[in-house]
Amino acid sequence: MNPDTPWWQRAVFYQIYPRSFADGNGDGVGDLAGLRARLDHLVWLGVDALWLSPIYPSPMADFGYDVSDYCDVHPLFGSLAELDALVADAHARGLRVILDLVPNHTSDQHPWFVESRASRTSAKRDWYVWRDPKPDGSPPSNWIAAFPPNTRAWTLDAKTGQYYLHFFLPQQPDLDWSNPEVVEAMQGVMRFWLERGIDGFRVDVVHCIGKDLTFPDDVEPFSRLPHVISHYHESTHRHLRALRKLVDSYAGERMLVGEIAQTPEERFARYYGQGDELHLAFDLPHQIYTPWDAAKWRERVANLEAWLGPRGGWPTWVLSNHDTPRHRTRLRASETDARARAAAVLLLTLRGTPFLYAGEELGLEDAVVPPARVVDPGGRDGCRAPVPWERAAPHGWRGAEPWLPFAPEPAARSVEAQRGDAGSILALYRRLLALRRATPALQRGAQRLLDAAEGVLAFERSDGAERYAVLVNTGAAEAQSDIAGRVTLSSDGRGEGAAFSGRLAPDTALVVRRG
Ligand code: GLC
Repeated sequence: MNPDTPWWQRAVFYQIYPRSFADGNGDGVGDLAGLRARLDHLVWLGVDALWLSPIYPSPMADFGYDVSDYCDVHPLFGSLAELDALVADAHARGLRVILDLVPNHTSDQHPWFVESRASRTSAKRDWYVWRDPKPDGSPPSNWIAAFPPNTRAWTLDAKTGQYYLHFFLPQQPDLDWSNPEVVEAMQGVMRFWLERGIDGFRVDVVHCIGKDLTFPDDVEPFSRLPHVISHYHESTHRHLRALRKLVDSYAGERMLVGEIAQTPEERFARYYGQGDELHLAFDLPHQIYTPWDAAKWRERVANLEAWLGPRGGWPTWVLSNHDTPRHRTRLRASETDARARAAAVLLLTLRGTPFLYAGEELGLEDAVVPPARVVDPGGRDGCRAPVPWERAAPHGWRGAEPWLPFAPEPAARSVEAQRGDAGSILALYRRLLALRRATPALQRGAQRLLDAAEGVLAFERSDGAERYAVLVNTGAAEAQSDIAGRVTLSSDGRGEGAAFSGRLAPDTALVVRRG
């Protein structure tokens, strides 16, 4: 293994949705103090880097993705001083910290937008995308917003008689990145955090920032989809090259991982540029919705290598995040943990940087949220349920009732219950993380797909003479394999340390040492 491999290629990231992670002050909403008190647990688990979903001041129309001040911390989460302390504590434990950057849009309460909407002649009018109605009064284009469902991406501002563009909620007006003042302002935000010692950014819907300002109508098959899915503009790449330069100008290997949702899917690879745009990119939502089917995963792995290979791009792997149903729910494996356990082996042995979403290591399903407690305009509450820390209710959330209900089985799924159980899914994640960290072939090695029986995904990871095969049986029946070697780790804990028998139970995965 090359010791010079950048940390973000070796690392396993852990996404924290701060509202749901741990509550330090008992108001029912997670905060920085709560998170800080749990850092040792994350060290015990064995992750390398934390990604914090937005912690900035926000009216919370989109739970923090509507930012009203990019250079401060929402009092709900704590203060700037507490964030500094958290980062210092994390760094002292060898954990890197990246923040969410939301460059495509601000909150409608951000002073920039307040000024912009004040009048047609305001100095910041052209920081956002304002256009006259069509002669019949309708919006400038037929673009649809990402949520709420079937709403327009334009809102008419009665006072000034123009529409403003918002790919998301009306409370999230899009910035106009063709305006150099906007670019300068956002780069200033990045400098602010980089100078405070942040290791990088997860960049929200970054494919959206460059816009076609001629506003062509979306046509079939995209005209009924959120515009954000099909939106592609060449100028985004110019902006990304500038952001990359800025980030790389800081010592300590700072990094950018961008959220890309694109159709056609292979376009996502373009956001790596020629090694001069994003360091890493998420291929969402395509990757997350890959079904539990070996043939589909095989195609995905092969495609990713084909798309990224020529650019020297390094893949990312994600099973769950704060926007989609958790994979244990999605993959319909609720009866037992078997499938979620096999998926964990896959996630943590593929070539690329894995991103875990807090709670997946507990095997959490989505919470069932009764209509009266639904709060998200995008319908994503289920995957944002609070993390159950303790076995006994209220599971470590003392004080006000948490902002969302717990996922099913909070006692059995709690950190406390699972930490003491060597057979738990939490223990499996921990063992996988330790194995990956100790094994250059798995962490950084080459990857080659292997032939396998139907229903089985098989690949080899190698580094010099060290060779491992990973076998994942997604099928409903037992499968056979003629791969020889010793079982290093199995998703159900069976057969470890022994010669591989050649038999693979349904919904199980094995790591087999070959050389
Ligand atoms: C991204 C975020 C999502 C948010 C949206 C708008 O997709 O992950 O939570 O609602 O961007 O900022």
